[in-house]
Amino acid sequence: MNKTDTSDRGTLLTRPRNHARAVGRESLPAGVSAKDCRPTTTHYLAVPSVIALRDVSKIYQRGAQVVKALDGINLTVPERGMVALVGASGSGKSSLLHVIGAMDRPTAGEVIVAGQSLSARSEASLTSFRRQTVGFVFQSFNLIPNLDALENVMLPMEFNGVARDARRRRAKELLSRVGLAQRLNHKPRELSGGEQQRVAIARALANDPPLILADEPTGNLDSKTGQMIYELLKEIATERTVIVVTHAEPLAQLADRIVYIKDGRLTSHDESAAPHDPPLNQERSKPYV
Ligand SMILES: Nc1ncnc2c1ncn2[C@@H]1O[C@H](COP(=O)(O)OP(=O)(O)OP(=O)(O)O)[C@@H](O)[C@H]1O
Ligand SMILES: [Mg+2]
Repeated sequence: MNKTDTSDRGTLLTRPRNHARAVGRESLPAGVSAKDCRPTTTHYLAVPSVIALRDVSKIYQRGAQVVKALDGINLTVPERGMVALVGASGSGKSSLLHVIGAMDRPTAGEVIVAGQSLSARSEASLTSFRRQTVGFVFQSFNLIPNLDALENVMLPMEFNGVARDARRRRAKELLSRVGLAQRLNHKPRELSGGEQQRVAIARALANDPPLILADEPTGNLDSKTGQMIYELLKEIATERTVIVVTHAEPLAQLADRIVYIKDGRLTSHDESAAPHDPPLNQERSKPYV
Protein backbone atom coordinates (compact mmCIF):
# COMPACT_ATOMS: atom_id res chain seq x y z
CA MET A 1 0.00 0.00 0.00
CA ASN A 2 1.24 3.45 -0.82
CA LYS A 3 2.38 5.49 2.19
CA THR A 4 -0.40 8.05 1.73
CA ASP A 5 -3.04 5.62 0.54
CA THR A 6 -5.46 5.36 3.40
CA SER A 7 -8.44 4.38 1.33
CA ASP A 8 -8.90 1.18 3.29
CA ARG A 9 -9.22 3.04 6.55
CA GLY A 10 -11.23 6.17 6.09
CA THR A 11 -11.48 7.55 9.61
CA LEU A 12 -10.64 11.10 10.50
CA LEU A 13 -7.58 10.06 12.45
CA THR A 14 -6.18 8.18 9.50
CA ARG A 15 -6.50 10.69 6.72
CA PRO A 16 -3.49 11.09 4.43
CA ARG A 17 -0.57 12.60 6.25
CA ASN A 18 0.84 15.83 4.93
CA HIS A 19 4.10 15.21 6.74
CA ALA A 20 4.77 12.12 4.63
CA ARG A 21 6.52 14.34 2.12
CA ALA A 22 8.96 15.64 4.70
CA VAL A 23 9.86 12.27 6.14
CA GLY A 24 9.19 10.05 3.15
CA ARG A 25 11.48 7.13 2.45
CA GLU A 26 12.90 8.85 -0.61
CA SER A 27 13.84 12.01 1.25
CA LEU A 28 15.53 11.40 4.56
CA PRO A 29 16.02 14.60 6.50
CA ALA A 30 19.34 16.37 6.33
CA GLY A 31 21.71 14.80 8.81
CA VAL A 32 19.79 11.52 8.94
CA SER A 33 21.44 8.63 7.14
CA ALA A 34 20.02 5.28 6.17
CA LYS A 35 21.55 3.74 9.27
CA ASP A 36 19.18 5.84 11.36
CA CYS A 37 16.37 3.79 9.93
CA ARG A 38 17.45 0.48 11.35
CA PRO A 39 17.94 -0.93 14.79
CA THR A 40 21.36 -1.68 16.18
CA THR A 41 20.77 -5.42 16.07
CA THR A 42 19.92 -7.84 13.33
CA HIS A 43 16.96 -6.74 11.29
CA TYR A 44 16.23 -3.64 9.27
CA LEU A 45 13.39 -1.38 10.14
CA ALA A 46 12.12 -0.28 6.76
CA VAL A 47 10.76 3.08 7.84
CA PRO A 48 12.41 6.48 8.12
CA SER A 49 12.79 8.21 11.43
CA VAL A 50 10.54 11.07 12.45
CA ILE A 51 12.92 11.94 15.29
CA ALA A 52 16.71 11.85 15.32
CA LEU A 53 18.66 13.10 18.33
CA ARG A 54 22.44 13.31 18.24
CA ASP A 55 24.40 13.63 21.50
CA VAL A 56 21.72 15.75 23.06
CA SER A 57 22.40 17.18 26.50
CA LYS A 58 20.37 19.48 28.69
CA ILE A 59 22.04 21.13 31.62
CA TYR A 60 20.17 23.27 34.09
CA GLN A 61 22.18 25.66 36.16
CA ARG A 62 20.84 27.32 39.29
CA GLY A 63 23.64 29.31 40.88
CA ALA A 64 26.35 26.86 41.84
CA GLN A 65 24.06 23.88 41.29
CA VAL A 66 24.30 22.10 37.95
CA VAL A 67 21.79 19.43 36.92
CA LYS A 68 22.52 17.29 33.89
CA ALA A 69 18.94 16.41 32.99
CA LEU A 70 19.92 14.87 29.62
CA ASP A 71 23.35 13.43 29.13
CA GLY A 72 24.38 12.53 25.57
CA ILE A 73 21.10 11.16 24.23
CA ASN A 74 21.16 9.42 20.85
CA LEU A 75 17.73 8.35 19.75
CA THR A 76 15.88 7.62 16.55
CA VAL A 77 12.16 7.03 16.44
CA PRO A 78 10.47 5.70 13.33
CA GLU A 79 7.49 7.31 11.71
CA ARG A 80 4.29 5.93 13.23
CA GLY A 81 3.80 3.81 16.31
CA MET A 82 3.64 4.28 20.03
CA VAL A 83 6.79 4.68 22.07
CA ALA A 84 6.67 4.54 25.88
CA LEU A 85 9.31 6.57 27.72
CA VAL A 86 9.90 4.99 31.11
CA GLY A 87 12.11 6.10 33.99
CA ALA A 88 12.11 7.11 37.63
CA SER A 89 11.10 10.56 38.79
CA GLY A 90 13.82 13.06 37.87
CA SER A 91 15.37 10.77 35.24
CA GLY A 92 14.83 13.32 32.46
CA LYS A 93 11.61 12.17 30.77
CA SER A 94 9.91 15.57 30.61
CA SER A 95 13.19 17.25 29.69
CA LEU A 96 13.48 14.87 26.74
CA LEU A 97 9.92 15.49 25.59
CA HIS A 98 10.42 19.25 25.85
CA VAL A 99 13.53 19.12 23.70
CA ILE A 100 11.84 16.91 21.08
CA GLY A 101 8.78 19.15 21.04
CA ALA A 102 10.80 22.36 20.78
CA MET A 103 9.44 23.61 24.08
CA ASP A 104 13.02 23.84 25.28
CA ARG A 105 16.41 24.02 23.59
CA PRO A 106 19.13 21.48 24.31
CA THR A 107 22.39 22.72 25.80
CA ALA A 108 24.27 20.67 23.20
CA GLY A 109 23.55 18.25 20.38
CA GLU A 110 21.26 18.16 17.41
CA VAL A 111 17.51 17.60 17.30
CA ILE A 112 15.83 16.71 14.01
CA VAL A 113 12.07 16.27 14.02
CA ALA A 114 9.95 15.56 10.94
CA GLY A 115 12.82 16.47 8.68
CA GLN A 116 13.56 19.76 10.36
CA SER A 117 16.67 20.57 12.36
CA LEU A 118 15.63 22.62 15.37
CA SER A 119 19.08 23.78 16.41
CA ALA A 120 19.48 27.12 14.72
CA ARG A 121 15.87 28.22 14.51
CA SER A 122 14.44 31.44 15.88
CA GLU A 123 11.79 31.46 18.59
CA ALA A 124 9.14 32.49 16.04
CA SER A 125 10.08 29.63 13.77
CA LEU A 126 10.01 27.16 16.67
CA THR A 127 6.53 28.38 17.56
CA SER A 128 5.28 27.68 14.09
CA PHE A 129 7.10 24.33 14.09
CA ARG A 130 5.30 23.35 17.31
CA ARG A 131 1.94 24.44 15.99
CA GLN A 132 2.20 22.34 12.85
CA THR A 133 4.29 19.38 13.93
CA VAL A 134 3.59 18.55 17.56
CA GLY A 135 0.49 17.92 19.63
CA PHE A 136 0.99 17.94 23.40
CA VAL A 137 -1.02 16.05 26.00
CA PHE A 138 -0.36 16.80 29.67
CA GLN A 139 -1.05 15.01 32.93
CA SER A 140 -3.25 17.87 34.14
CA PHE A 141 -5.11 18.21 30.79
CA ASN A 142 -4.39 21.98 30.54
CA LEU A 143 -7.75 22.82 28.98
CA ILE A 144 -8.88 26.42 29.01
CA PRO A 145 -11.53 26.53 31.75
CA ASN A 146 -13.84 29.15 30.29
CA LEU A 147 -13.98 27.53 26.85
CA ASP A 148 -16.19 24.53 26.14
CA ALA A 149 -14.87 21.29 24.64
CA LEU A 150 -15.54 22.39 21.07
CA GLU A 151 -13.82 25.76 21.55
CA ASN A 152 -10.83 24.13 23.25
CA VAL A 153 -10.32 21.88 20.23
CA MET A 154 -10.89 24.72 17.77
CA LEU A 155 -8.29 26.97 19.38
CA PRO A 156 -5.05 25.50 17.93
CA MET A 157 -6.59 25.68 14.46
CA GLU A 158 -7.37 29.35 14.97
CA PHE A 159 -3.69 29.96 15.76
CA ASN A 160 -2.91 28.07 12.58
CA GLY A 161 -5.15 30.29 10.44
CA VAL A 162 -7.90 27.73 9.69
CA ALA A 163 -11.25 29.29 8.73
CA ARG A 164 -13.96 29.23 11.41
CA ASP A 165 -16.33 26.80 9.67
CA ALA A 166 -13.53 24.36 8.96
CA ARG A 167 -12.31 24.64 12.56
CA ARG A 168 -15.74 23.91 13.91
CA ARG A 169 -16.27 21.00 11.54
CA ARG A 170 -12.95 19.35 12.34
CA ALA A 171 -13.29 19.94 16.09
CA LYS A 172 -16.70 18.24 16.02
CA GLU A 173 -15.29 15.32 14.04
CA LEU A 174 -12.36 14.92 16.43
CA LEU A 175 -14.53 15.09 19.53
CA SER A 176 -16.87 12.58 18.04
CA ARG A 177 -13.87 10.38 17.21
CA VAL A 178 -12.78 10.37 20.86
CA GLY A 179 -16.34 9.54 21.95
CA LEU A 180 -17.45 12.99 23.08
CA ALA A 181 -20.04 13.94 20.45
CA GLN A 182 -22.52 14.44 23.30
CA ARG A 183 -20.23 16.77 25.28
CA LEU A 184 -19.36 19.49 22.74
CA ASN A 185 -20.63 22.34 24.87
CA HIS A 186 -19.43 21.16 28.23
CA LYS A 187 -16.82 23.26 30.00
CA PRO A 188 -13.85 21.35 31.45
CA ARG A 189 -15.32 21.48 34.98
CA GLU A 190 -18.44 19.78 33.61
CA LEU A 191 -16.41 16.82 32.32
CA SER A 192 -14.84 13.83 34.09
CA GLY A 193 -11.05 13.51 34.19
CA GLY A 194 -11.06 10.89 31.43
CA GLU A 195 -13.34 13.07 29.29
CA GLN A 196 -11.10 16.09 29.82
CA GLN A 197 -8.12 14.07 28.70
CA ARG A 198 -10.01 12.95 25.61
CA VAL A 199 -10.75 16.60 24.80
CA ALA A 200 -7.03 17.30 25.27
CA ILE A 201 -6.18 14.48 22.87
CA ALA A 202 -8.66 15.82 20.30
CA ARG A 203 -7.05 19.24 20.74
CA ALA A 204 -3.58 17.75 20.24
CA LEU A 205 -4.81 16.30 16.93
CA ALA A 206 -6.41 19.54 15.76
CA ASN A 207 -3.69 20.58 13.35
CA ASP A 208 -3.04 16.98 12.29
CA PRO A 209 0.56 16.85 13.58
CA PRO A 210 2.85 13.91 12.74
CA LEU A 211 3.95 13.73 16.38
CA ILE A 212 2.02 13.55 19.65
CA LEU A 213 3.94 13.95 22.91
CA ALA A 214 2.07 12.88 26.04
CA ASP A 215 3.64 13.49 29.46
CA GLU A 216 2.06 11.10 31.97
CA PRO A 217 -1.37 11.48 30.38
CA THR A 218 -2.95 9.01 32.79
CA GLY A 219 -1.27 10.27 35.95
CA ASN A 220 -4.50 11.85 37.23
CA LEU A 221 -6.82 9.06 36.13
CA ASP A 222 -7.91 5.75 37.65
CA SER A 223 -6.39 2.65 36.10
CA LYS A 224 -9.41 1.69 33.99
CA THR A 225 -9.75 5.19 32.53
CA GLY A 226 -5.98 5.28 32.06
CA GLN A 227 -6.16 2.08 30.07
CA MET A 228 -8.85 3.59 27.81
CA ILE A 229 -6.72 6.67 27.21
CA TYR A 230 -3.77 4.43 26.30
CA GLU A 231 -5.89 2.46 23.88
CA LEU A 232 -6.98 5.70 22.25
CA LEU A 233 -3.36 6.88 21.97
CA LYS A 234 -2.38 3.51 20.55
CA GLU A 235 -5.04 3.81 17.88
CA ILE A 236 -3.88 7.33 17.06
CA ALA A 237 -0.34 5.94 16.74
CA THR A 238 -1.32 3.84 13.74
CA GLU A 239 -1.11 7.03 11.70
CA ARG A 240 1.50 9.12 13.47
CA THR A 241 4.14 8.86 16.17
CA VAL A 242 3.01 9.00 19.77
CA ILE A 243 5.58 9.25 22.57
CA VAL A 244 4.07 8.70 25.95
CA VAL A 245 5.80 9.15 29.30
CA THR A 246 4.65 6.78 31.98
CA HIS A 247 5.61 5.40 35.36
CA ALA A 248 3.15 2.54 34.85
CA GLU A 249 4.88 -0.49 33.36
CA PRO A 250 1.61 -2.28 32.52
CA LEU A 251 0.65 0.67 30.32
CA ALA A 252 4.12 0.81 28.79
CA GLN A 253 3.51 -2.80 27.72
CA LEU A 254 0.86 -1.54 25.32
CA ALA A 255 3.42 0.48 23.37
CA ASP A 256 5.16 -0.76 20.24
CA ARG A 257 8.51 0.25 21.71
CA ILE A 258 9.85 1.13 25.15
CA VAL A 259 12.65 3.59 25.78
CA TYR A 260 14.17 3.53 29.25
CA ILE A 261 15.91 6.54 30.74
CA LYS A 262 17.99 6.83 33.89
CA ASP A 263 19.90 9.88 35.10
CA GLY A 264 19.53 11.55 31.71
CA ARG A 265 20.86 8.57 29.75
CA LEU A 266 19.01 5.96 27.73
CA THR A 267 19.38 2.41 28.98
CA SER A 268 18.50 -0.90 27.44
CA HIS A 269 16.12 -1.89 30.20
CA ASP A 270 14.51 -0.64 33.37
CA GLU A 271 17.45 -0.28 35.74
CA SER A 272 15.15 0.68 38.58
CA ALA A 273 13.70 -2.87 38.52
CA ALA A 274 14.98 -5.44 41.03
CA PRO A 275 18.19 -7.14 39.78
CA HIS A 276 16.52 -10.54 39.42
CA ASP A 277 13.64 -9.17 37.35
CA PRO A 278 13.95 -10.08 33.67
CA PRO A 279 14.33 -6.94 31.55
CA LEU A 280 10.86 -5.96 30.46
CA ASN A 281 10.42 -5.74 26.72
CA GLN A 282 14.13 -5.58 26.18
CA GLU A 283 13.63 -6.79 22.64
CA ARG A 284 11.34 -3.88 21.92
CA SER A 285 13.70 -1.35 23.43
CA LYS A 286 16.75 -2.37 21.40
CA PRO A 287 16.38 -0.12 18.37
CA TYR A 288 16.41 2.97 20.48
CA VAL A 289 19.56 2.61 22.49
N1 LIG B 1 13.82 24.19 34.82
C1 LIG B 1 14.65 23.45 35.55
N2 LIG B 1 15.63 24.00 36.27
C2 LIG B 1 16.50 23.26 36.99
N3 LIG B 1 16.44 21.91 37.05
C3 LIG B 1 15.47 21.30 36.36
C4 LIG B 1 14.52 22.02 35.58
N4 LIG B 1 13.68 21.14 35.00
C5 LIG B 1 14.06 19.92 35.41
N5 LIG B 1 15.13 20.00 36.23
C6 LIG B 1 15.86 18.88 36.84
O1 LIG B 1 16.23 17.99 35.79
C7 LIG B 1 16.06 16.65 36.20
C8 LIG B 1 15.12 15.94 35.21
O2 LIG B 1 13.85 16.52 35.36
P1 LIG B 1 12.59 16.01 34.52
O3 LIG B 1 11.47 16.95 34.81
O4 LIG B 1 12.99 15.85 33.11
O5 LIG B 1 12.33 14.57 35.18
P2 LIG B 1 11.15 13.54 34.93
O6 LIG B 1 11.78 12.24 34.56
O7 LIG B 1 10.15 14.11 34.02
O8 LIG B 1 10.54 13.39 36.40
P3 LIG B 1 9.01 13.17 36.89
O9 LIG B 1 8.68 11.73 36.63
O10 LIG B 1 9.07 13.46 38.35
O11 LIG B 1 8.14 14.13 36.13
C9 LIG B 1 15.55 16.68 37.61
O12 LIG B 1 16.62 16.46 38.47
C10 LIG B 1 15.00 18.08 37.78
O13 LIG B 1 15.14 18.53 39.10
MG1 LIG C 1 8.16 14.75 34.23
